[in-house]
Amino acid sequence: LNLRGGGKGNVLITGGAGYIGTHCAVTLQEAGYTVMILDNFSNSCKKSIERVGEITGKSIEKVFDVDIRDKAALDKVFKENKVDAVIHCAGLKAVGESVREPIAYYENNFVGALNLIKAMSAAGCKKIVFSSSATVYGNPAKVPITEDFPLQCTNPYGRTKFFIEEMLRDVANADPEWKVINLRYFNPVGAHSSGKIGEDPSGIPNNLMPYVTKVAIGKLEKLTVFGDDYDTPDGTGVRDYIHVMDLAKGHVAAVDKLFSIEGEVVYNLGTGHGYSVLDMVKAMKEASGREVPYVIGPRRSGDVPTCYADAAKAKQELHWEAKLGVKEMCQDAWNWQCKNPNGYREEAELAGAKK
Ligand code: NAD
Ligand code: WQD
Repeated sequence: LNLRGGGKGNVLITGGAGYIGTHCAVTLQEAGYTVMILDNFSNSCKKSIERVGEITGKSIEKVFDVDIRDKAALDKVFKENKVDAVIHCAGLKAVGESVREPIAYYENNFVGALNLIKAMSAAGCKKIVFSSSATVYGNPAKVPITEDFPLQCTNPYGRTKFFIEEMLRDVANADPEWKVINLRYFNPVGAHSSGKIGEDPSGIPNNLMPYVTKVAIGKLEKLTVFGDDYDTPDGTGVRDYIHVMDLAKGHVAAVDKLFSIEGEVVYNLGTGHGYSVLDMVKAMKEASGREVPYVIGPRRSGDVPTCYADAAKAKQELHWEAKLGVKEMCQDAWNWQCKNPNGYREEAELAGAKK
């Protein structure tokens, strides 16, 4: 970014201690960027940041224990530090919880993003990559999904992503100095191949692959497949699962691209391929060598039958494409699970927490 110095610039990752943020931190450091992390650790812990340093051999430049709802604290970070670009991953992400607690979602996600944009503006830092989601496409009329499909959200979480995207588009339209890339992730899964960082959901996972991994290792008894009567090849839901390391590399490509775009641009980050729930169960069985018992249950409300990306725009303009398949996704998720049966928490910590 900072071409004058000959090197790359400083990138601040909000939510950088989380699942996607830690993987982005690794790939950005490896690409030569200096990485800073801002997080309130509501869904993560500091150990994940240490692990990033163990992987890359380079510690994170600065870590800010800051809540993006705290505008004054954000202002201070941008005033006191030279930030060239932001990757905005901080936020809440559980669809069901967002239906029950919409205010928390609008506050953390929308107000948080508004605070961030204001703090960045005041400091003259006007380059941002935003973690949006394929959820903004709702139930698509057909597949594969291109970026120009109509947007329609079905829950408060999805609406926060939609509103933030719209806000960023408006901001970029009003001020040509702003460069915005909205990345619409499909279904990120897997972990870094070292097994040092990965997805660490608290409690019972909502998402398929963390659930399947916990069934394979025996921490959960069986998977409930949410419906087998969809209009899909085997009747179960079809999604575009993307390896989190591919996704992270997509962020490096996006940050590189921030320099040469006009205004706001949106990219799908997916593989362009759809896999069913039963395909993923089979792939995890093969990767782990374990059984993955399942039962067929009713459909989950709000689920769409099929969702996968047309990934051509990112390939053409970001020169990025996903390289890893479901085999690697399952192998790496399994490796992370085996090496960290309790995620980032130690056995002793868990025992203490139970007392
Ligand atoms: P995550 O929960 O692991 O990471 C989010 C991080 O944000 C956490 O470390 C959390 O502590 C932090 N955070 C939450 N609220 C905050 C606040 N008010 N102030 C500061 N930090 C805060 O989730 P993730 O899977 O890494 O997702 C990262 C981003 O990508 C999210 O915005 C999510 O909506 C988006 N996304 C995720 C997926 C997915 O399936 N994982 C798919 C599409 C989009
Ligand atoms: C995948 C498939 C389920 C769990 C969600 C969010 C989306 C994005 C990614 C953030 C579906 C089936 C699941 C289980 C099952 N997140 N399933 N049994 O719903 O595609 O997307 O996460 O932006 O916004 O909505 O992902 O992993 O929950 O489900 O049968 O116990 O697995 O029905 O077909 P989804 P998922």
